Amino acid sequence: MNIGIIGFGNMGKVHAFSVENLKYFYNDIDFDPVLYGVAASSAESAAAYAEGYGFKRAFSSPEELIRSPEVDVVDICAPNVYHYDFLKAALECGKNIYCEKPLTGFRDSSVEICSLAKKGKSVCGVVFNTRFLLPVVRAKELINDGALGRILSFNISFLHSSALTPYATGWKQDKNICGGGVLVDLGSHAADLALYLCGNISHVSGKSQIAFPKRLSRDGGEYKITNADEAFYMTATLDSGAVGQICVSKIHAGTNDDFSFEIYGERGALRFSLMEPNWLLYYDSSENGMKTGFTKIECVGRYPSPSSGFPGQKAPVGWLRGQLGSMHSFLRCVSDKTEFTPSFYDAARAECVIEAAYRSDNSQREERVNYF
Ligand SMILES: NC(=O)c1ccc[n+]([C@@H]2O[C@H](COP(=O)([O-])OP(=O)(O)OC[C@H]3O[C@@H](n4cnc5c(N)ncnc54)[C@H](O)[C@@H]3O)[C@@H](O)[C@H]2O)c1
Repeated sequence: MNIGIIGFGNMGKVHAFSVENLKYFYNDIDFDPVLYGVAASSAESAAAYAEGYGFKRAFSSPEELIRSPEVDVVDICAPNVYHYDFLKAALECGKNIYCEKPLTGFRDSSVEICSLAKKGKSVCGVVFNTRFLLPVVRAKELINDGALGRILSFNISFLHSSALTPYATGWKQDKNICGGGVLVDLGSHAADLALYLCGNISHVSGKSQIAFPKRLSRDGGEYKITNADEAFYMTATLDSGAVGQICVSKIHAGTNDDFSFEIYGERGALRFSLMEPNWLLYYDSSENGMKTGFTKIECVGRYPSPSSGFPGQKAPVGWLRGQLGSMHSFLRCVSDKTEFTPSFYDAARAECVIEAAYRSDNSQREERVNYF
């Protein structure tokens, strides 16, 4: 299954990482996903990515990648404004398409792409990855099982602080490239999740905010933010009569990647924060639930089958990152011929403590640790 990635910034690399590591995480990989090709904003940068990240081929343009008969899956990770043309060309070539959110960033273009895709036979999808966070998977199950009863209200927030620096002047600060501001960028996730978990939204009212209309460009000049909201506050009414709020922002101090939701129903409530990714909080309004308050449902690595359980079902989200950090640090030292810590010496000292603890267990008294 030859995968061709268009755009190799942050998300292109995340997708390549996912393709290469699927086999460790899932037991059903009876197909062979291959990082076949990459295209970027220039032939030169694509060649550098291909060499640096092990793609078999660098394409001189996205169009060349899309047309290549060797490419089975076109994976679009370019800035939003380019999605429409790439999607259209890929659909014309009958390709399977994995497209980063938002689909196009522009409502009418997305509607057109949808109807074109419906006519074809290829597999197409958008990367709303928040749906695959384990607590979101559990929340969906609980909602479907009726654990909340009728949903009455919700709050969904996606908060960053990245635009508090005066230099936040990339393509996501320009509606002509992004399709909007933070409402398109982060709000696409929030809107999808509201629709997915809570139901059909019939009406909205909204308020955008640009708190820093003048920013600094990298060369020291002035950069005006004219058309891309830095925060957006929305009230949404569902077909069911439920009312919810969505807040998305890049100007909320102290936030990192604070994606969170609260859903309140007749029979209970759910809460989740991506900054506490191991837990889904559930409140059961029945008599029993009122005694316990919110229950922390342990999600950690307990993905359902065909998950391989790797790196361990009990492994908290983030544990693997520590392993990668250790391996990187060690191999860096091997390559640089420098000393690595934690060293054998550090490990032996820890074992001196353990030996003394066993001695104490036997002797029933305090023992001295015999370091060397
Ligand atoms: N699912 C998520 O959580 C998530 C997170 C961040 C971004 N995104 C989405 O991923 C996409 C890429 O965002 P990013 O943060 O990786 O951006 P980025 O700026 O880090 O990377 C974009 C890449 O596209 C390349 N590019 C620019 N113009 C191009 C063109 N005409 N043809 C081909 N390549 C081109 C750039 O060289 C760069 O390598 C966007 O659609 C964005 O909305 C999704």
